[in-house]
Amino acid sequence: MSEFRFDYTNAEALIGRHELDQLSGQAAWAHDLLHRRGAERAAGLGWLQWPETYDVEEFRRLEETAARIRDGFDAVVVVGIGGSYLGAKAAMAMLGHAFHNQLPRDRRRGPEMYFAGHQLGSLYMAQLLDMLEGKDFAVIVVSKSGTTTEPAAAFRLLRDRLEQAWGKEEAARRIFVVTDPQKGALRAMAERIGYTSFAIPPDVGGRYSVLTPAGLLPIAASGIDINEMMRGARSAMEDLADRSLEQNPALQYAVIRNLLYRKGMAVELFVSYEPSLAYFAEWWKQLFGESEGKDGKGLFPASAQFTTDLHSLGQYIQEGRRHLFETVLRVNDPGADIPLPSASDDGDGLGFLAGRTLEDINRRALEGTVLAHVDGGVPNLIVDIPALTPYWFGYLVYFFEKSCALSGMLLGVNPFDQPGVEAYKTNMFALLGKPGYEEQRARLEERLGG
Ligand code: PA5
Repeated sequence: MSEFRFDYTNAEALIGRHELDQLSGQAAWAHDLLHRRGAERAAGLGWLQWPETYDVEEFRRLEETAARIRDGFDAVVVVGIGGSYLGAKAAMAMLGHAFHNQLPRDRRRGPEMYFAGHQLGSLYMAQLLDMLEGKDFAVIVVSKSGTTTEPAAAFRLLRDRLEQAWGKEEAARRIFVVTDPQKGALRAMAERIGYTSFAIPPDVGGRYSVLTPAGLLPIAASGIDINEMMRGARSAMEDLADRSLEQNPALQYAVIRNLLYRKGMAVELFVSYEPSLAYFAEWWKQLFGESEGKDGKGLFPASAQFTTDLHSLGQYIQEGRRHLFETVLRVNDPGADIPLPSASDDGDGLGFLAGRTLEDINRRALEGTVLAHVDGGVPNLIVDIPALTPYWFGYLVYFFEKSCALSGMLLGVNPFDQPGVEAYKTNMFALLGKPGYEEQRARLEERLGG
């Protein structure tokens, strides 16, 4: 296996040929519609042709800025949440060193990287500020709307720290903004104060934005090759352009998960055997959860990290309620392998593994687990990639984005909006006394018994 592959052999027991044939017409319809809307530049579809339509000049400016950040600071705090956080976090986890921040400077490709604004925990923020004490740091703040509470609060705290430490002018030099080209509080601040800034295209939604400056600036600042990433995305765009189910793995994935959903599957478990893919799973969960979970429909996107979770969730997966299937992201070459050392005695009982490597054992664990789970009634879809490289990150991102859009269309929902995300925000604003939310506040306080 040396290329990208989507394999649904382990779901075939549940899916008849006639079912695929019947859905292939709808799949081609969804594909045509997606591309027609993309060509019309319909809302939310800017990502579809993005790997070939992005502004190359702006990309170069971004690379130069990232190089400046990389070489100029000890540490960078990336501020953002949801689609303005998960893509960058996923890329850094997948492609960076697991112990990036702990490595000496000359052994890592970029400054120490931290995240903030992805939650409201005060202890986390206090400890982050504590850790930044005495560090020469910069802030990249990412918010498409420029008004989201979590990153806005974190940014205010970090900006204050920068200004206290270096004064307003130098603080401004250490702040990098990625936001809407025109709208929002962050854009207004960037223009007024003169922060270096980049735009997230208005027609690319948050969860589809990792290959725009929203993800690319922090990813490049951490030392990852974003040219390769865009090259991978472009290859995927070309490889996944066919309207026929037979030829297009993105369509196959969309159709198979749709058929499994129709057969009563409620949960899709995204599984990987590399800890560095844990945040890719988080990115995937947001992509599918926000795109499909609406109108009372949608698979619940969950994730598991194997073999770790085989020792916690494994029992349920093997024998619990039969309402889930797995999508396994398999990596042919994870980039390192370690032979087990020989031992003079067999005290640990591992003599049978003599001459094997850790990767060999992990691969056998994957093969054994897939077979056991399939035997237990859990279909396993497998996505193969050759290696953990920027190219394959870009490729995977595009594969899942396109599958997700097609899958949402087959499900009959709008995969590009997220009306449900507003509900908690409205309540939070009301409870915090934001002007304009007075009526809701009274109603909520009454329910809370306040
Ligand atoms: O996918 C989405 O649209 C959301 O998850 C947003 O990315 C998230 O709410 C952050 O929004 P913003 O970038 O406007 O701060």
